[in-house]
Amino acid sequence: MTPSLRVYHDDDISPAALEGAEVTVLGYGSQGRAQALNLRDGGVGVRVGLRAESASRHLASQDGFAVVEPTAAVAGASFVAVLVPDEVQREFFSGEVAPNLRPGAVVIFAHGGPVHFGDVALPEGVDVVLVAPMGPGRILREYYVEGRGLNAKVAVAQDATGRGWPRALAYARALGCGRAGVIATTFADEARLDLFSEQAVLCGGVPALAEAAFETLVAAGYPPALAYIECVREIKYIADLMFEYGVDGMRRRISSTALYGGATRGPRVVGPEAEKALKEILEAIEDGSFAAEMKKRWPGREEFLKAVRNDGLEAAREEFEKTVRRAESE
Ligand SMILES: NC(=O)c1ccc[n+]([C@@H]2O[C@H](COP(=O)([O-])OP(=O)(O)OC[C@H]3O[C@@H](n4cnc5c(N)ncnc54)[C@H](OP(=O)(O)O)[C@@H]3O)[C@@H](O)[C@H]2O)c1
Repeated sequence: MTPSLRVYHDDDISPAALEGAEVTVLGYGSQGRAQALNLRDGGVGVRVGLRAESASRHLASQDGFAVVEPTAAVAGASFVAVLVPDEVQREFFSGEVAPNLRPGAVVIFAHGGPVHFGDVALPEGVDVVLVAPMGPGRILREYYVEGRGLNAKVAVAQDATGRGWPRALAYARALGCGRAGVIATTFADEARLDLFSEQAVLCGGVPALAEAAFETLVAAGYPPALAYIECVREIKYIADLMFEYGVDGMRRRISSTALYGGATRGPRVVGPEAEKALKEILEAIEDGSFAAEMKKRWPGREEFLKAVRNDGLEAAREEFEKTVRRAESE
């Protein structure tokens, strides 16, 4: 049987659980900034917790937030949102957050991974919930300002007060997510689906395919800047159509040649070998071996970025920016 979804919109969610709450947002990066700004615009009292040497302090203060050290920020709050990168949460949570939580507080995560894969041990006497916006922080903020919302997934891992669900839902509503739909799930499913979609499609399959197609064109002697436009930039227009109308709706809006060529050649690109790889990727997420591998192999963000950079593609992008794009904006 296909599992059905429990979805909440603004009208289904009481904001009462957040009334009078003191919310601490730990971290002021992609999610931290967007969440803090949305909450404040909705009338919620927010303070930001950042370490003394934090590079984000200036921006948070400039945005008008009181910024305090994480330990003090946690101790003063009934809602604590942990919005620092996943790979630092083990140490950060056990050192700065857990020992300072008020009894009865609620801890909010934006991704289920650290709890599901056991990096974060749940402290007694507090609620532990998930409010995971389904998109980047920049879009969460942009949509909120435009009066729209981003979907979010919510879950409860520990319900010490019996108020875990209403608190998670009220928090998601305050982020603007109830305007679009807040979907009930579990930490385990959120962690697995999020990892799978980013590895198989969004941040893995799509960029890898774009790079391979770009390299095929360049190796055949086509101009790199043109290959860059065809294989990278044009993804947006097709992605926008799929976002708005779905895959069939996209197909209905492209040329007959694109429709025929795409539908007959796509399955050659994503054939049995790709299907096998997709299954293996999912298995490695489900059995925890991906999480263990990343813990062992992650060298730090900058070093990893250097290792995976495609110099040929970047050179083509620069050429595009200097020539075509310059002309576009003149
Ligand atoms: N990025 C997204 O759009 C997105 C979408 C959905 C869910 N999520 C989830 O949201 C959470 C936050 O992700 P993010 O992408 O927003 O993170 P991020 O932008 O990388 O977070 C950066 C913030 O974390 C602080 N920070 C970094 N390392 C720290 C440490 N060791 N101790 C204390 N503070 C530290 C940084 O402060 P300093 O200046 O001190 O380094 C900065 O304020 C994650 O669980 C992620 O999975 C993210």
